[in-house]
Amino acid sequence: MDAHAGTDHHPAASSALPIDASLFEVSPDDPMFDREARPIAKCYQLVFGTDRAWSEGKICHACSRPGAPKKWNFLDAPPDGRCSDCGGEVADFWPISQILADMRQELARPDAVCAVLRQGEAVIGGCWGFSATPEGLDEHLNHGLAAHVCAPDVAATLRAMYPGVERFAYQDEIFLRPEFQRQGLGKRLFAARHAGFAARDLAVYVMRTKRNPPSTSYRWFRDGWGYRTVTDYPDADQRVILAHTFEAVSRRL
Ligand SMILES: CC(C)(COP(=O)(O)OP(=O)(O)OC[C@H]1O[C@@H](n2cnc3c(N)ncnc32)[C@H](O)[C@@H]1OP(=O)(O)O)[C@@H](O)C(=O)NCCC(=O)NCCS
Ligand SMILES: [Zn+2]
Repeated sequence: MDAHAGTDHHPAASSALPIDASLFEVSPDDPMFDREARPIAKCYQLVFGTDRAWSEGKICHACSRPGAPKKWNFLDAPPDGRCSDCGGEVADFWPISQILADMRQELARPDAVCAVLRQGEAVIGGCWGFSATPEGLDEHLNHGLAAHVCAPDVAATLRAMYPGVERFAYQDEIFLRPEFQRQGLGKRLFAARHAGFAARDLAVYVMRTKRNPPSTSYRWFRDGWGYRTVTDYPDADQRVILAHTFEAVSRRL
């Protein structure tokens, strides 16, 4: 193999084509949605599958337990596709069909904004979000979880921290191919989505990240930009919900 070509999961350094941020505005009801969104979903799968804080590449469903998936980073997944413990076949942690279904559902929510970063024709990053009430966020962030692993008091704490705020802008996802990171491009994606949100009547962000191991977004938003902790999950990943005002965020852009 050409030493500079890279592999699917560890791509070669980028070309000199220009990089542009734009809004992805295909409606989830559009029959072309899956086709148009597929390159964004593939980028999502690659980023979360190779990032060391997430390692959401492959999973063995037979060995996984609630809150404790048996998972691998794409970069060190079993080469024969078989689980080292049970010998069963491993699956994609994030199947493209599931990412597309989640995108369809989340982009159909109120005030949804999706921004995409492309180099030439290729999608190299994406981010999206939507707005929700404190109670809607409580439901979204604890959906399907057993009571003992839920984040406690999401709605009540948000109402106490931000009195009078009825809708929050939820920073749902943000991801960028590894070879483009640490050059200010994640911030460009964030800024493109922020412009979309700021045009609505929204003033406070909410997001979820994790501390074990710390996601880049924890370092970025909590350590760097001073987001405030709303509540913590009692789980092994030490997931955490953070919030900050648009006013404070605007000063960083
Ligand atoms: C999160 C992500 C999109 C950031 O993209 P990026 O292009 O590397 O970020 P930028 O270079 O634009 O930096 C944005 C800010 O984060 C800070 N930052 C970025 N990476 C950091 C790191 N590893 N440690 C500490 N701070 C970091 C930068 O200093 C910058 O802050 P500033 O505005 O105060 O200078 C990218 O790291 C990524 O895709 N990570 C994997 C997926 C992920 O974790 N997504 C978030 C899930 S909740
Ligand atoms: Zn197994």
